[in-house]
Amino acid sequence: MKELKISPIKDGTVLDHLSPGSAFDVLKVLDKKLWKTYGYTVDMAVNVQSSKYEKKDIIKVENVKLSEEQLKYISLLAPNATINYIENYEVVEKEKVKIPDVVTGILKCPNERCITNFRMKDGRKEPIDYKFIVTKKDYPIKLKCYYCERKISQEDIPKLLIR
Ligand code: CTP
Ligand code: ZN
Repeated sequence: MKELKISPIKDGTVLDHLSPGSAFDVLKVLDKKLWKTYGYTVDMAVNVQSSKYEKKDIIKVENVKLSEEQLKYISLLAPNATINYIENYEVVEKEKVKIPDVVTGILKCPNERCITNFRMKDGRKEPIDYKFIVTKKDYPIKLKCYYCERKISQEDIPKLLIR
């Protein structure tokens, strides 16, 4: 079988080895939360054959170098991704996403009774920031709320992102 490939890019960032299906969540968060993809050219491939056994998604963003903040989100949605920086058609830098030990300000706790979701009488939220401990750091990652110990699995992450 001939492998189907999307074209090489001249300059930009390639997010490679995304787990199958995760490209949709990565693209959504990049678009909504971090930057407007309007004006950027984004190539995306879903469920392409990576090795004999594995499939993967790929996102290529032309002419953009992703920021630390953007990579923080990507590390939770696609913890097994490789980030490649491309300059003049060459891969000039390659790194695995770094999974943090503690996650703050990105995910909300799904436990309505958690102190971080507590609302005062006037409806204001308690001034306690969401905080999670990463209990498993390879794909699929696992987290635990620092306050109520509610467990979060990889598939819960997209719907718990703070928008
Ligand atoms: N790539 C690209 N445009 C370029 C160069 C590379 O889109 N001008 C893409 C490749 O298609 C690949 C990724 O960037 O998806 C990494 O390229 P490379 O390091 O050459 O591929 P591999 O050696 O297969 O990477 P890895 O070992 O990380 O799997
Ligand atoms: Zn909690």
